[in-house]
Amino acid sequence: MINSPVEDIKNRLDLVDIIRGYIKLQKAGANYRAVCPFHNEKKPSFFVSPARQIWHCFGSCSEGGDMFKFVMKVEGVEFGDALRILAQKAGVELKKQDPKSASWRTERQRLYEITSLASRFFETQLEQSIVGKEAKKYLLDRGMSEETIKKWKIGYSPDVWQGLYNFLTGKGYRGDEIERVGLALKARTGRHYDRFRGRIVFPIFDLSSQIVGFGGRVFKQTKRHDGQEEAKYINSPATPLYDKSRILYGLNKAGIEIRKNDKCILVEGYMDAIMVNQAGFENVVATSGTALTPYQLRILKRYSDNLLTAFDMDLAGNSATKRGIDLAQAEGFNIKIVTMPEGKDPADVALEGSEKLKELVDNAKSIHDFYFDNAFSKYDKNTLDGKRDISKTLLPVIKKIPNKIEQTIWVQSLTKGLGVKEEDVLEELAKTKVEQAETYNSSKNNNPPAGGRKTRKEMLEERLAILIIKHPENANLIKQEDLKVFSLAMVNVIDSLKHPPAGGKESDKLNYLKLKADIEILDIDPEQEFRNCFEELTMLVVKDSLNNISREIKQAEQDENFTKVEELTNNFKNLCQERKS
Ligand code: UTP
Ligand code: MN
Repeated sequence: MINSPVEDIKNRLDLVDIIRGYIKLQKAGANYRAVCPFHNEKKPSFFVSPARQIWHCFGSCSEGGDMFKFVMKVEGVEFGDALRILAQKAGVELKKQDPKSASWRTERQRLYEITSLASRFFETQLEQSIVGKEAKKYLLDRGMSEETIKKWKIGYSPDVWQGLYNFLTGKGYRGDEIERVGLALKARTGRHYDRFRGRIVFPIFDLSSQIVGFGGRVFKQTKRHDGQEEAKYINSPATPLYDKSRILYGLNKAGIEIRKNDKCILVEGYMDAIMVNQAGFENVVATSGTALTPYQLRILKRYSDNLLTAFDMDLAGNSATKRGIDLAQAEGFNIKIVTMPEGKDPADVALEGSEKLKELVDNAKSIHDFYFDNAFSKYDKNTLDGKRDISKTLLPVIKKIPNKIEQTIWVQSLTKGLGVKEEDVLEELAKTKVEQAETYNSSKNNNPPAGGRKTRKEMLEERLAILIIKHPENANLIKQEDLKVFSLAMVNVIDSLKHPPAGGKESDKLNYLKLKADIEILDIDPEQEFRNCFEELTMLVVKDSLNNISREIKQAEQDENFTKVEELTNNFKNLCQERKS
């Protein structure tokens, strides 16, 4: 028998490893638990069962399922994409099927094929074309190793109008697809031309290392036709695969190290991330010229609470960087600032050797120290204006410190620094207003997944099943005629609990219930609890039937079907009798 690719993949991969690739898991008995990645919560109610290869959130989102469901949810993709991602991880080859008949070969997948082919095209250009080789030499001269160039799949886009375009159409891809994924632009004439021309190209990867976009750095060609300077970098526009506010460059490679070190070094831009990584700091990710977004922070939160920012910190007023930092603080990150030597960026420092970089990282300042040092070096504390500017910068910072003792320490520090009276500082502090950063809870574009609300009946059935799983003798309390109060799904569950199928596969429902049973701690008498739940369930079922019968009686009366009325009335009486006994 040939296994389906789904079964094949499930046999080869471990759900725990898959989920670990995305979030921090803690051991909890035979299972693992974590803060749910699909809704916002403080207490971890997300569980993973290695034995059953299922996950479930017992918190408000009540999501759960197998590894495919997890990848679909966490990556926000369709089943076909999840299948491909996992197939790649498992080394399972999906049969190349005729594009039309293959249901898993989604439109999205064609876009991924295009980005992946494009990346290979650029890589080849860097290795083989004349200008490409010069570009490569430039990278090597900047201290990038051959290995690094390969690792990050850095390439070169030739300085022609339809280089990549012709390559891709030659492989059977359409102009509109190439445009859709951001690699071609359409001229007024309707002709397509390459977006990246004459640039060193950095592929941008998603969490599963698929290429979703590109960044291109100028190389040689620095003037536009109108004589203006070209932008140093151009990046893929927003496409179905790429949204710059959601991607953190390098996270696909850095995730495991961030978790291991329990800290993440944040830099700005491709070069910094790559060079810092090359210097041995593999827990580095980059934002691509944008402020940190709530979405990015939410992803980072799965890896660590500790951020070390190593970029140009313009924390004045309402700069993008400051907004990102405020937001990160509001989300509960601990932030430290790595100060770069004057005029250098992390890539420059990385070239001086990892020792130097380590020293800077180890000496990272707390965000408050950073603000203080910054304000006091920027303004003159000896003039009235300077004092006002310093306090205007620092009071909102101090105001936001949640811990009162810590706050007092900073108030005193400001008092001393300015040479004023503490009462005056406190008075000003009281007047200071702080605007709340928009957190991902308050942000509109984050809809927590709809909670799967269970009815009371379903909850009772689950409870009964769990009581049987934990204390199998409870099963004997259910008599054959009692089974009618249970739903069909439950009857099946009870049946397989009483008579476990030999070597057979357990149903998803049973799997889920067993995980839930693992987690549940019973601190009451299981038999008594079982009887109570069973009684309540029976009552509910009888009440439901009574309601149904009364409705039917009314209908029969309206229809003047008196034999039916009599029959129903008898049923009703019998049920009431049953209820009393
Ligand atoms: P930098 O100007 O600091 O470039 O921009 P860099 O990464 O240090 O590159 P080198 O060292 O000059 O080669 C930092 C980041 O800001 C974004 C890019 O993501 C870049 O990596 N950026 C910069 C743009 O998107 N467009 C630009 O025109 C400039
Ligand atoms: Mn640089």
